[in-house]
Amino acid sequence: MTNIGRLQARLAEKGIECLLVSENANVNWATGFTGSFGFILVTPTAARFVSDSRYTLQAEEQVGSLMPTSTFAAPATVEKFLASHLQEMGVSRVSFESPYVAYATYEKWRDAFAPLELASAPDLIGSLRMVKSADEIEKTRAACKLADACWTHVSRLVRPGISEYDLGLEIEFYFRRSGAELAFDPIVVSGERSARPHGRPSEKLLERGDFVTFDFGAKLDGLCSDLTRTIVVGEATDRHHEVYDLVLESQLAAMKLMKPGASGKDVDAEARRVMGDYAKYFGHGLGHGLGRVVHDGGRLGTSSTDVLAVGQIWTVEPGIYIPGFGGVRIEDDVVVTADGVEILTHSPKGFTILPE
Ligand code: GLY
Ligand code: MN
Ligand code: MN
Repeated sequence: MTNIGRLQARLAEKGIECLLVSENANVNWATGFTGSFGFILVTPTAARFVSDSRYTLQAEEQVGSLMPTSTFAAPATVEKFLASHLQEMGVSRVSFESPYVAYATYEKWRDAFAPLELASAPDLIGSLRMVKSADEIEKTRAACKLADACWTHVSRLVRPGISEYDLGLEIEFYFRRSGAELAFDPIVVSGERSARPHGRPSEKLLERGDFVTFDFGAKLDGLCSDLTRTIVVGEATDRHHEVYDLVLESQLAAMKLMKPGASGKDVDAEARRVMGDYAKYFGHGLGHGLGRVVHDGGRLGTSSTDVLAVGQIWTVEPGIYIPGFGGVRIEDDVVVTADGVEILTHSPKGFTILPE
């Protein structure tokens, strides 16, 4: 079934007369449209795509075979244009994606759509997006392969004296040169800075004895990868080994539990159990859904209510971050299969000192 077909079945099941889809990644999931401005008006039996004149040709090309497309030009406004479509469709109540709509937008729509009723709906698409199609899995596999190739390239450049900035830029160049976008701004943090899970690359130069964490991903054909590797520069101490091995052991133990029916909360708890006392240095969740955006629907975490199912793609990324010393995170991407998970990222992750 197409993604739009899956959405229409959900609307029928929930008794929703018409949904105005405005969240860009949801529009992209349902239609394949890759522009920055598009809406879908979806009922259980019909759908229309709306954008503006910047995207007339693109909308026809990407969405035209799926549903009628139409675009407006100045002096028309998007809210009036949507209102005229709703009128043509004979809709009496339209629901909007409340988690993604600013209050000011809601007010404009409410005024322009009157006397139609404008109703708040939760995110109805996020849970559908969590289960990937075979095509989405193949595209994610390609994005993961590119992240692995990037790591092969960048890891060869690691040496004392190179800056975090330069390594971060090298990751960006690599992806751009390969025809991909960045799934997110790369993280390269070294020495004590590696205790910042989401630190930005700085002018700091790598020094012997630094942990260095690299976290980066490509967005290729609309699907993201998300890979983290941590290495030591030049020479390592027992403490480096101890912390690194615990993170790796924690990741492998958590992955072993991952299969259809497992709970996101239990998988996260297993990672923390393996860390023992060091779990106090693991502040974030174990992982997240991965898809058209890097933090897609679904969380593996202490308060997760998600249950694993075949076709979901998850990151598994335990970390230990010790202020004043440094941190380690290891992150791989996995797809849930009938009896476990298949790992999509293949970069080596044994304890590594660079340069070799
Ligand atoms: N770089 C974002 C993450 O790993 O979740
Ligand atoms: Mn990451
Ligand atoms: Mn991640």
